[in-house]
Amino acid sequence: MARRILSFVCQNCGAAYGRWQGKCDACGEWNTIAEETASTARPAMPGRAPRKGRLFALEPLSGEAHDAPRLASGVAEFDRVTGGGFVRGSVLLLGGDPGIGKSTLLIQVAATLARGGHRAVYISGEEAVAQVRLRAERLGLAGAEVALAAETSVEDIIATLSERDTPRLVIIDSIQTMWTDVVESAPGTVTQVRGAAQALIRFAKRSGAAVILVGHVTKDGQIAGPRVVEHMVDAVLSFEGEGSHQFRILRAVKNRFGPTDEIGVFEMTGAGLREIANPSELFLSERDLGSPGTAVFAGIEGSRPLLVEIQALVAPTSLGTPRRAVVGWDQNRLSMVLAVLEAHCGVRLSGHDVYLNVAGGLRIQEPAADLAAAAALVSSLANAPLPPDAVFFGEVSLSGAIRPVAQTAARLKEAAKLGFARAVVPDAARAEAESGLSLKPVAMLSGLVADIAARGTRPARPDRRAVGDG
Ligand code: TYD
Ligand code: MG
Repeated sequence: MARRILSFVCQNCGAAYGRWQGKCDACGEWNTIAEETASTARPAMPGRAPRKGRLFALEPLSGEAHDAPRLASGVAEFDRVTGGGFVRGSVLLLGGDPGIGKSTLLIQVAATLARGGHRAVYISGEEAVAQVRLRAERLGLAGAEVALAAETSVEDIIATLSERDTPRLVIIDSIQTMWTDVVESAPGTVTQVRGAAQALIRFAKRSGAAVILVGHVTKDGQIAGPRVVEHMVDAVLSFEGEGSHQFRILRAVKNRFGPTDEIGVFEMTGAGLREIANPSELFLSERDLGSPGTAVFAGIEGSRPLLVEIQALVAPTSLGTPRRAVVGWDQNRLSMVLAVLEAHCGVRLSGHDVYLNVAGGLRIQEPAADLAAAAALVSSLANAPLPPDAVFFGEVSLSGAIRPVAQTAARLKEAAKLGFARAVVPDAARAEAESGLSLKPVAMLSGLVADIAARGTRPARPDRRAVGDG
């Protein structure tokens, strides 16, 4: 006998409960738990053999592979992040803080695509048509043939879009404002967002149109609404930037058709978003040359080298527990570098507050930044400016050794291109001579610390005999 089991499932995270409750213990969301029925193993129909299953052919791994057909948007920085343009029938979720420039970016993408002769539709659930027009006018895009509408009913939208020839790109701004008849709850609720997203994803797969959903971001940086939408779509992009800076960075968080480590760099100007083809120049444009506590890191973002300034401030603390604050880098990596400096290089930081900042509002994820961060920290502590024409890269291991990192040649080439003359690199990069830079290989972090401290006006390392428990 089939037994029907009632269970209560959180529509946000999928946790299951035996009874209804107002708050999901697993994800902390309220009112997301809904009743679902799940029947246990289905017994065979009486008098009939159980279905045997259809046979299908298995294929070898080798064989012809077709690249997903893509349509480049024409906005190079955007295409870099998606992996070369829109895949037919794919759905992309673009998240970002309110006011960061999502609508601006997408109207620019739609207009560029339309100028290339493709049909692009922009549906706004937040702004009136006149507002969208006004923005397009300000951006100088009023001439582009983008089809506009201010609509929020998913059924109406899909019916309208299915009527004429399918558009190549449909922008839904934003998914939180959409609602579908199929679900009864109010727009913006988890179930509505999920229902609307599901319907639009089905439309994309059926029609071959690429769909971009705009998603709002909550205070803690999550795309509001069910996490499941992130699992349902083919790619999740996030548009980020620091409030006070004009740079905006587009990053792929998930991408079924391309890389997730590429970034697109834009600058918000009075005439919309401007693409930044050479971000290093932008991130280094406001360097304060010759001040202690700054080091230039030669990094790699995706396939592109990116030079950025790392700034450190090490100052005596007045607190019992000194502060360790970091912006743009990983707090744990900072702790690790500080621990290595203390344990292996004789640098005493327990009486100092430490602040570390990546200039320009960029967020670095590479361990290769360890060496630059360490150099900046010691430079600040010892009041010893680092040579302004030097770049740093290398991973610091817990033993204090400097480990090699990938793509040494590309990092050095970018540094040479931007006029740097020296590079402080891991010992293993010694062989990369043809870059034109004068290389200073370091095997152990303590060697670099001693070098920097020797030029400083403040002792970075107290007399080592005085250090210790004695
Ligand atoms: P918007 O695209 O509306 O942000 P979102 O859709 O992510 O909420 O961008 C709003 C901000 O961008 C607004 O504060 C003004 C600024 N902006 C410019 O600086 N220049 C421009 O040309 C445009 C259109 C907007
Ligand atoms: Mg908007």
